[in-house]
Amino acid sequence: MGEMTERKPLIVGNWKMNANHLEAIQMVQKLSYRLEPEDYDRVEVVVAPPFTALRSAQVVIEQDHMRIGLGAQDAHWKESGAFTGEVSAPMLAKLAVQHVIVGHSERRQHFGETDEMVNAKARAVLDAGMSPIICVGETAQQKDAGEADDVVIQQVKAALARIEGRALASSAIAYEPVWAIGTGRNAMPDDAGEMAERIRAQVTDMTDSSVAEGIRILYGGSVSAGNIKDFMAKRHIDGALVGGASLEPDKFAAIVRYRI
Ligand code: 13P
Repeated sequence: MGEMTERKPLIVGNWKMNANHLEAIQMVQKLSYRLEPEDYDRVEVVVAPPFTALRSAQVVIEQDHMRIGLGAQDAHWKESGAFTGEVSAPMLAKLAVQHVIVGHSERRQHFGETDEMVNAKARAVLDAGMSPIICVGETAQQKDAGEADDVVIQQVKAALARIEGRALASSAIAYEPVWAIGTGRNAMPDDAGEMAERIRAQVTDMTDSSVAEGIRILYGGSVSAGNIKDFMAKRHIDGALVGGASLEPDKFAAIVRYRI
């Protein structure tokens, strides 16, 4: 075991396809009212609104000197070009976006995203000076077939391929079992903690232990104020990717303010 590295917990609200720009402004303001300076000292707090709300969220965060970070939910792998409907990583970087979710299971499931696309997106996000939050996770079927470990490790390998270790240090990996997303059925914290440990071991294999010890591994899937501390108590879980509960500022603030 290498030396212990302090990893600042990262808690990200993935709003998915919810909130227009006016609602987003209110949500950011409400969240800000509910958080204290020491909350930001303990935890890196990020919200990831839809593309159409990023600019408004950026402006309110900057004007009010909020310490809430801005995330995006996806990015295309090319810098520009004939890709109707897509948004590039440099465009997001220009909006002061710091984190970009890539490879969310909803994108893999509904929009045919492959491991290769996830890898290309992660690299584009890093090239634009932002940090990817790379999502991995097995389906219920894969879990029942005993394939969860293989599936997740394969996704990690593919997503991180050809990314230099030093660049990776700023990345996060979110373990989101597909069966736990939006179902109210969270993974057992012990199981999620063990998967996070396997993911870190895989990153160590691909880079070195100093990079792997610095990377933040998040858990996602029906995270709530009631269960967050059980996940955060796990040595290899360094934060959460929160869907439904992040849409309610009260609930999201309570998650950020967890105490072990
Ligand atoms: P829920 O928290 O709604 O289960 O969503 C999790 C998720 O997909 C976050 O990216």
